[in-house]
Amino acid sequence: MNNALAGIQTPFYLYDMDLLAETAKAATEAAEKYGIELHYATKANEDTRIISYLAQAGFGADCISGGEVANALKCGIPAQKIVFSGVGKSDSEILTGLKAGIGCFNVESVHELYILNAIAGKFGLKAGISLRVNPNIDAHTFRYITSGLEVNKFGLPDTEFDSFVEMLGKCPNLHFEGLHFHIGSQIPDVGKVCRDVCSSANKVIEWFRDHNLPVRSVNLGGGLGVDYDDPDAHRIPDFESWMSAIDRYLERRPGMSVHLEPGRSIVAQCGTLYSSVLFIKETAAKSFVILDAGMNDMIRPALYGAYHRIDNISALERPLLEANRIYDVVGPVGESTDTWGKGRRLPVTVRGDLVAIRSAGAYGQTMSNRYNLRPEAQTVYSDRLWDATMKPSIL
Ligand code: LLP
Repeated sequence: MNNALAGIQTPFYLYDMDLLAETAKAATEAAEKYGIELHYATKANEDTRIISYLAQAGFGADCISGGEVANALKCGIPAQKIVFSGVGKSDSEILTGLKAGIGCFNVESVHELYILNAIAGKFGLKAGISLRVNPNIDAHTFRYITSGLEVNKFGLPDTEFDSFVEMLGKCPNLHFEGLHFHIGSQIPDVGKVCRDVCSSANKVIEWFRDHNLPVRSVNLGGGLGVDYDDPDAHRIPDFESWMSAIDRYLERRPGMSVHLEPGRSIVAQCGTLYSSVLFIKETAAKSFVILDAGMNDMIRPALYGAYHRIDNISALERPLLEANRIYDVVGPVGESTDTWGKGRRLPVTVRGDLVAIRSAGAYGQTMSNRYNLRPEAQTVYSDRLWDATMKPSIL
C-alpha cells in the first residue's frame, strides 16, 4: 500500500474502506445482540461515500444541522432513521427536518419545543420529539468536548422538566417519543460513565411515566473513545463493552427502543492524513520537521491539544534502520499552535518523506477550513487509489 501512495499529491486523507466495513460490522453485530439501534453521528465525517456505505450497513443518522439532514438523505439514510440534535436549530433547518419526515427531533429547550410546534402547525406537519436531558454527569474527557454538565449549553436539567411537560401539553403538533442523553466524546471509562448515565436515565424515565408520558425510546448518544496512542493495537473500538454496559445498567421496559449515536468510534481509525516533509529546520533549541499539512487540514491538535500518532512511512522503506531523533512536527500555517506534535521520536527524517498522521477519520476533514487560503486536502479511498491526483509534491 505504501508504494501505491508515492506520487499522490499531498496532503491527502486516505480512507481505508475495508477497515470501515469491519468496524461497521463489529458495531452492527454488537447492536443486534443487545437490541440497540444505531444512528451514525455524521458530524464525525460527512464524506458521502462513507455515509452511503453506513446507510447500506443499516445505520440511521444523528444530524446537527439542516445541511447534515439533507446530506444523510442524499446518502440513502431513510428519513425515519434520522434524529436531529442541536441547541440552535434555525427555522429553515426545522422545516427541512419536518418536510423530510425525520424520525425524531432531539429538543434541547422549552423555547425550542414551542417554536417547533408553531412551525409544524403553520405547515400542517407533525413531529416526533425526544427531550435531551442534561444529567450533570462528568464524562471525564477533554474539558472541551464534555457536554453533560450543568454548565454546558446542552440539554435540559431536571429543574426544568415541569415547564417542559407544561409546554408539551400545549403542543398538539408534537408527539413525545422519549429521552436523549449525550454527555461527551472520547470517553475513556465507558463502563463507569454508562452506569452513571443509565442510572440517571432510569430515574428520568420513571419521572416521565409518573407524569403520564411513557418513554418509548431512549437515546444514549455517542462517546465511545478510540486508541489514539496505538491505533494498530486497537483498530476496532470495543463496541461490545459499551453496549453490554448499557444492557446491564439500563432498565428496559417492554416496547422501549434503545438508540446510540456513535461517530468517532465508527470512522476515526479508518482515516489517515498523509503529508510530505517540506523542510527540516535545526536550531539550538529544537529540530523541527515542517509538513505540508497544517492546522487548517485538521484542527484537533491546535484546538484541543489532541494527540495523534505520527509515522514516517518513507523511513520504513529505507534499507538501514536509522537512529531515532526527537522532533517537533509542525505545519506551514502562520500560527504557533499549528503543531502536530512536540518532542516526537521519529526515524531520521528528510525532505520528501511521506508522513502519516493517524486516527484522522473522525473530526479531521470535517473540521477543516481554508485558513491562510490553503487548498483543501484531497480525499482518497483505499479501493479507488487510481482516482487520486498524482502530482509530485516535492519538485
Ligand atoms: N450525539 C451528539 C448529540 C453529539 O453531539 C455527538 C458529538 C455525537 C453523538 C457523537 O459523539 P462521538 O461518538 O463521536 O464521541 N470535535 C471533537 C468532538 C466533538 C463531539 C461533538 N458531539 C473532537 O475532535 O474530538
